[in-house]
Amino acid sequence: MAEHIRVILTEKEVNARIQAIGDEISRDYAGKKVHLVCVLKGGSFFMCELAKRITVPVSIDFMSVSSYGKDTKSSGVVKIVKDLDESLKDKDVIVVEDIIDSGQTLSYLLELLGKRGPKSLALCTLLDKPSRRVVNVNVDYTGFEIPDEFVVGYGLDYNQKYRNLPYIGVVEFN
Ligand code: IMP
Ligand code: MG
Repeated sequence: MAEHIRVILTEKEVNARIQAIGDEISRDYAGKKVHLVCVLKGGSFFMCELAKRITVPVSIDFMSVSSYGKDTKSSGVVKIVKDLDESLKDKDVIVVEDIIDSGQTLSYLLELLGKRGPKSLALCTLLDKPSRRVVNVNVDYTGFEIPDEFVVGYGLDYNQKYRNLPYIGVVEFN
């Protein structure tokens, strides 16, 4: 079966939205510094583009998490595969994600990071599938709300493919 990508958000649309979020963050954090925490691997493309458009001082750090597996996934317990390099103490932290689906990963992660003493902790996601939510997560900045379809591009993968696409699309098989 051949795979085909149906574009739902063009590169131009995604970039315009990232610029708007960058402007909003720059306004909201005027006079402060922001510490962006990227959730690997999916959030990396978005975080780089976002960071370039923020005009207040920016520092960045990365973490990688994975689900403990199917049985425990419903509990939302995630394993830290790579932890942050720096402390979050007294920093204005923004967690940057590619997509929020069930919300389980982020709800666990935000609780964990919140215990590390940040001055503030916000969440920014490029995509949100609100119809899939099973755990409530407070999202501060959202790029686009999308329907319940499996999407790729701009960091999002299907079997590790398509992360490099500069747009967002749905994988179709025909
Ligand atoms: P959740 O919010 O805990 O369910 O998990 C969100 C994670 O699932 C994201 O960070 C992605 O890695 C992955 N994910 C969810 N929906 C999609 C999708 O449509 N395409 C690619 N990855 C997805
Ligand atoms: Mg992710």
